[in-house]
Amino acid sequence: MISKFTNLGILSSAMDFINFFLNLAVPPACLVMLAFAWPTLCFIRACERLYNTLYTMENMEDKVVIITGASSGIGEQIAYEYAKRGASLLLVARREDRLRGISEKARHFGAKQVLITAADVVKEDDCRRFVNEAITY
Ligand SMILES: NC(=O)c1ccc[n+]([C@@H]2O[C@H](COP(=O)([O-])OP(=O)(O)OC[C@H]3O[C@@H](n4cnc5c(N)ncnc54)[C@H](OP(=O)(O)O)[C@@H]3O)[C@@H](O)[C@H]2O)c1
Repeated sequence: MISKFTNLGILSSAMDFINFFLNLAVPPACLVMLAFAWPTLCFIRACERLYNTLYTMENMEDKVVIITGASSGIGEQIAYEYAKRGASLLLVARREDRLRGISEKARHFGAKQVLITAADVVKEDDCRRFVNEAITY
């Protein structure tokens, strides 16, 4: 009986010691790890992003890309992204005047060639027309 209590006492002291050690060591260790790991992680991510930008950018030099809705918003930005990859662009929207300015900018970004065409994608004939233009680019 006495020996059982003694064993429990030793076990309890050991647990107290482990708790004391963990309370003392773990929080500062976590802070130190965070202080070193966070900048390292940020550096690795920046390198990865740079590598992806430099070496995995798709080469579109022999491709023709039709972009509908290219006169503003998402379509306009997509046009610039493909221009940076050297693609030939066919920009489609109803407002031809806006497409002109965007085509200039796309050439500046590196587009191989830029054609603009005023078309309404609701009209089937218009769609046929600009798809044929892209085929015979
Ligand atoms: N921006 C966002 O955060 C967001 C988020 C989720 C979803 N969306 C959706 O994504 C689409 C584009 O958004 P956005 O912000 O880029 O809009 P936006 O700036 O208004 O651009 C719409 C483009 O579509 C063209 N367009 C509209 N009707 C057309 C038609 N019948 N024929 C040919 N071109 C036509 C417009 O050019 P013309 O007027 O010159 O024809 C314009 O170039 C929208 O459907 C929007 O609801 C946008």
